[in-house]
Order: sequence, then structure tokens, then C-alpha cells
Amino acid sequence: MLHGPAAPVSEITPDIHRLIDDMVQTMYAAPGIGLAATQVGVPLRIFVADLSAGNRAGELITFINPELLEIEGTQHEDEGCLSVPGFTANVLRPSRAVVKGLDRNGDPQQIEGTGLLARCFQHELDHLDGRLFVDRLRGLTKDQILRKIRKLSKSGKW
Ligand code: NI
Repeated sequence: MLHGPAAPVSEITPDIHRLIDDMVQTMYAAPGIGLAATQVGVPLRIFVADLSAGNRAGELITFINPELLEIEGTQHEDEGCLSVPGFTANVLRPSRAVVKGLDRNGDPQQIEGTGLLARCFQHELDHLDGRLFVDRLRGLTKDQILRKIRKLSKSGKW
């Protein structure tokens, strides 16, 4: 599931709203700042993001059928993922990203993110395209992380 592309949402039904509520709960429980539907086993193009991880009102963003409109600049920061627990790595990302799509109610929305929000948007869009942050790493760091994950999963700890 985590390595396949997700399909667009064709209609925003009560089931879609339940899925979104479930994703928000899962993200806050972790706690995390972003979650894609593919991470809860649903291959649909939806992600939620909240840089405050639920600590500040009004920061929750829901994107249905998101598309990357513009990217600009670069940033190098440590990044982690709820689907790769216990691992972080320095990932190169654009420093600004504009995403358009639909909000929870199906109304068009366009949001510009810089810094952490830009990183979060691109991380979640990657999930919807079946890519994890470790797939964006190269060389030794990637080998080391993948080796550790393989070891842990063999021993049933991952
Ligand atoms: Ni992730």
C-alpha cells in the first residue's frame, strides 16, 4: 500500500468524511504533523496536515486531490514519518510549495507553504505517489536506514 500510487476521490461522501476524521485522530494520537490516506490503508488522494499537531486551533489542513502547483528554493532538514517509526534523516526539499486541491467540503483551495509546511506538503504528496522519505535518500544514509529497518522487521520489532 505504501508503495503504490493513490487514486483521486471522485465524490465526497460521508464515508470520505469519516476517513478524514479517522486520519486526523490518528495523526494527533501519534502525534504527527501530517498523514496521508495511504498510511491508514486507503489508496485515495487525501492528506491532512497540522503543524501544531493539534495544539492550536485553526491549523488543520485537509487536502482532497491535492496537486503541486509551484515549488521554489531548497531546504535541508531532518525528516521523519509515522510509517517509518524511529528513523529520521536529512532530506533535500524545496523551501516553498504551493498546493491546490479541494478542502473537506469539496471547495477549491490553494495554500502556499514555506519551510516546514512546504516540507510537510511534499512529504504527504510523496505518500500519495507511493514514495517514502527514505526513497528520497541516497548512498550511505539510505543503506544504513534500510539495513536497520530490515533487521528490526526480521526480529519482529518493526
Ligand atoms: Ni510520512
